[in-house]
Amino acid sequence: MTTAPPTPTPPPASSHASSPFPRTVLITGAASGIGAAVAEAFARQGVGLALADRDTRRLEALRDRLPRTAAVTLHTLDVADADQVRAVVDDAVRRHEGVDVLVNSAGILTEVPLVEMDPAVWDETIAVDLRGVFLSCRYLLPHMIARGGGRIVNIASQLGQKGGEGLTHYSAAKAGVIGFTKALAREAAPHNVLVNAVAPGPVETPLVDGLSPEWKRAKQAELPLGRFGRPEEIAPTVLLLASDPGGNLYVGQTLGPNSGDVMA
Ligand SMILES: NC(=O)c1ccc[n+]([C@@H]2O[C@H](COP(=O)([O-])OP(=O)(O)OC[C@H]3O[C@@H](n4cnc5c(N)ncnc54)[C@H](O)[C@@H]3O)[C@@H](O)[C@H]2O)c1
Repeated sequence: MTTAPPTPTPPPASSHASSPFPRTVLITGAASGIGAAVAEAFARQGVGLALADRDTRRLEALRDRLPRTAAVTLHTLDVADADQVRAVVDDAVRRHEGVDVLVNSAGILTEVPLVEMDPAVWDETIAVDLRGVFLSCRYLLPHMIARGGGRIVNIASQLGQKGGEGLTHYSAAKAGVIGFTKALAREAAPHNVLVNAVAPGPVETPLVDGLSPEWKRAKQAELPLGRFGRPEEIAPTVLLLASDPGGNLYVGQTLGPNSGDVMA
C-alpha cells in the first residue's frame, strides 16, 4: 500500500524576513577546508551554526574567528558512529530549536593503488565518506520533515563522476554519495526537503596533503582552468542551494565547481 505524500508546505523560515538564507545550519567536517569556508560564509549572513567535527581544537579556533552575529554550537563526533551522530543531531536540534539545513562536508582521502590496498583502508573511507553522509541524513531528516521542510547539501567530489588513479575507495564513496543524493532527493522532495550534492574539483585544503606531488601535478595539467580551487570558491555554491528562492528548484542535482575537470 502506498501512502499519499503530505501537502507541500512553505520552505523553512529565513533568518529574518528579507534574508534569502536559513536560520540554522548544521555542518559536518566544519573544522577545516570547505566545511570551515561554508561556516564562515553562512556566519557572514547571520545564520546560526551547529559545527560538527572530530577535531575539537580546530572547531574552537574556527568559532573564535567567526563574526558574533548568531548562535554557534560546537559538537565533537565521528561521523561514522551512529550513536554519536544521532546524539549530535538531537543536541543541535534542541539547542537551536530546529535545524533548517544540513551540509555534509566531513571526509578523508588517501592515495593507494588497488593492488596494495588494505581492506581496512577501503572500509574506513567508505565509513567516513559514505556511511557518514547516510547517518547524518538518517537522523536529521525526520526532524526536517516534522518542521515542514529543509535542505541537505552533500559534498561529493568530481572523482565520484570520473574516477581518480589510486583513489578507487574515495571515488567509490563519492559516486555513492551522488547516487544516495539522487535517491534521497526523490524520497524527501514531497516533504519539502531538497537534497543536492556539490562535487568540487581539486581544492587547496589539508585533504589534498594526502595526495602525492606527482598526482597533483598531473591533475593540475589536465584542468582546463589550470589551477586548483580555494575553499571560499566552493562555499557560494552551497549557499545557493540553501537559499530561497535561489535554491528552490534544485532537486537531486550535482553542482560542479571543479575548474572544468568534469563538464556535465
Ligand atoms: N579538497 C579537495 O580537493 C576536495 C575535492 C572534492 C571534494 N572534497 C570533499 O570536500 C569535503 C571537505 O574536504 P576538505 O577538502 O575541506 O578537507 P579537510 O581535510 O580540510 O576537512 C575535512 C574535515 O572533516 C573532518 N573529518 C574527517 N573525518 C571525520 C570523521 N570521521 N568524523 C568527523 N569529522 C571528520 C576533519 O577533521 C576535517 O576537519 C570532503 O568530503 C572531501 O571529500 C574535497
